[in-house]
Amino acid sequence: MIRTPVLVGLGAMVPPRVVDNEELSQRLDTDDHWIRTRTGITRRHWAGPGTATGDLAVTAAQRALRSAGGGPVDMLILATSTPDHPMPATAPGVAARLGLGPIAAFDISVACAGFVYALATAAGAIAAGIAERVVVVGADIWSTRLDPQDRTTAVIFGDGAGAVVLRAGEPDEPGALAGFDLGGDGTFKDLALVPGGGSRGRSEPDGAGEADDYVTMHGKEIFTHAVHRMAESSAQLLKKIGWSASDIDWVAAHQANVRILHTVAGLLKVDRARVLVHLDRVGNTSAASIPLALTDAAAGGRLAPGQRVLMTAFGGGLSWGSAAMTWPPIQVSDVVS
Ligand code: UT7
Repeated sequence: MIRTPVLVGLGAMVPPRVVDNEELSQRLDTDDHWIRTRTGITRRHWAGPGTATGDLAVTAAQRALRSAGGGPVDMLILATSTPDHPMPATAPGVAARLGLGPIAAFDISVACAGFVYALATAAGAIAAGIAERVVVVGADIWSTRLDPQDRTTAVIFGDGAGAVVLRAGEPDEPGALAGFDLGGDGTFKDLALVPGGGSRGRSEPDGAGEADDYVTMHGKEIFTHAVHRMAESSAQLLKKIGWSASDIDWVAAHQANVRILHTVAGLLKVDRARVLVHLDRVGNTSAASIPLALTDAAAGGRLAPGQRVLMTAFGGGLSWGSAAMTWPPIQVSDVVS
């Protein structure tokens, strides 16, 4: 019999510094009205000097482990595209700081779809008997990769981390993951890109400049791909597991733009009120956005045990993925903004 991954813990964090639309309007050609109406974002949190992605990941994972009631863990997967260093992976250091012992720990780099990919990897490890209990973290600090002159990216991105704990269990338990759909299309890799910092930039004869370390994004094209890929992936998954749109209690979609969330809801024929919205307070937190939105909803008492949750994400790569689950009876007390 295939062992089923069951979610037993959830936690998240954002760094304390709040950057509201007004602050951005003071140094960029933008304003609160444009940002709110075009994105739905009112503020975001940016990490300050001395804080790295691994630091956020440690706190989120600690909270998820507390929510799970502690206990041993034999694997930690960190989804991030803003690791502490190009090498080594950030995950082993996070596991060490959490005191988890000499466990398997590795990073997954799938941009804003990273959390769903990490969840699928953890589910596969549990199903195959490779791991019993896995911490999955999504964490990113994009604020240090934003071009100070680029109003398009500056208004969107926020920093944060979210984590879950999965254990081996049964398919009919609340918290059981019901299935996944994953996909990608590298022919559009340039639509969201950090040009420098990798072997490609290093291979250029004149090397990479500082600006090459900033994220570039073709917002409009990404918007269109995000809408269609999340809707298609969700539909594929629902078909695969035999759920209909009316079975879904909550959609936890990647939080990039409220207009994307509403359009995806329309395509899926799910009431907008069933789509979790957290980006208004934290912006687009990349790999952290789904566990952050779930933590916000769970701490606010909106997620009830047994409810059916659809997660769907999209990001640079292009990469996308969806996951479905029933909500478990867990305690989540950390309010994350
Ligand atoms: O996490 C996964 C990756 N990211 C995403 O999913 C983000 C997807 N994209 C988006 O959310 C939106 O495309 C943006 C929020 C990035 C941009 O919104 P948009 O409605 O697609 O704007 P646009 O690029 O079509 O630009 C419309 C106008 C332009 O002015 P003109 O040419 O019409 O005069 C832009 O120059 O808005 C202007 N504009 C701005 N104005 C004020 C673009 N950014 C801003 C800004 N403030 N921050």
